[in-house]
Amino acid sequence: MALPFRHLVNADQLTRDCAAEIFDVADYMQRVCDFKGRVDLLSDKILGFLFFEPSSRTMLSFQSAAQRLQAGVIFAQGKEMSSLKKSESVSDTVRVTSGYCDLLVMRHELEGAAAEAAEVSMVPFVNAGDGSNEHPTQCLIDGYTIRRELGRIDGIHIAIGFDPLQSRAIHSLARFLSKYDDITISFMSPEMLSPKPEFVETLRSRGVTVHVTHDMGHAASADVIYLNRLQEERFANAEDFERLRQKFTLRAATLAGRSPLVLDPLPRIDEIATEVDTLPTAAYFRQAHYGVPVRMALLTLLLGRF
Ligand code: NCD
Repeated sequence: MALPFRHLVNADQLTRDCAAEIFDVADYMQRVCDFKGRVDLLSDKILGFLFFEPSSRTMLSFQSAAQRLQAGVIFAQGKEMSSLKKSESVSDTVRVTSGYCDLLVMRHELEGAAAEAAEVSMVPFVNAGDGSNEHPTQCLIDGYTIRRELGRIDGIHIAIGFDPLQSRAIHSLARFLSKYDDITISFMSPEMLSPKPEFVETLRSRGVTVHVTHDMGHAASADVIYLNRLQEERFANAEDFERLRQKFTLRAATLAGRSPLVLDPLPRIDEIATEVDTLPTAAYFRQAHYGVPVRMALLTLLLGRF
């Protein structure tokens, strides 16, 4: 099985066929995690992880995936500790580090940094988040979770909040879902954080039914509720963040007795009350754990090992 790309930069590259392939391999990797712990698929490979923006789940689940596949890892975290601090360009950093490893993963604060990296990387490159732009491995985890928990992706109504303007996880997920049939997306956000009109237009042109709303009215009728924190670090004005951060919170009462699947790429700040955690369909911690098998699948497929 081969993926139709060498570098994963954005969600538009993920066709439904290749997502299905990644999900099937992830199911196998989940069994490896559960029953064997490790599998010798990448013991002759070195993976390079460059995390120039804060990360917990993405960084640790990539590391865990690498270890379960028995790959070696080289690693740089934070601009302070790398030559980016000395104003080295992204392309020079990637040109050099891609010569030290067999696959490179990078998170960077600048939109477009991933595309720049993919252009010069000598080895398969994976975007682990570029500013507010895209986070394609997160949408694979989201899609995998929806498939596991609901048994299908086609035909879902998903209510997405609360920062569709600035959340890269939301951007990638919406683009990814646009590959499936009969998708309805209800964006929920304060007006100031509405999705960009051209983004909504792209989704509509692909056949997605899109509602842009400024309350949580659509949450109760959705099959899936996908929430991501307001992206504090991307606000031009800290007062706007403080003013808006608690405007929208999912509470048990919001669900009005229904049981939609509730997802969140995490970290959770104000968007979901902790009382929701105990509901059986609150799946965000399971979703975080699926990050390991999904990333194991992606790494092995990109390296032609499956
Ligand atoms: C997301 C990210 O980094 O964009 N986190 C993650 O990778 N799980 C979401 C966020 O930071 O809000």
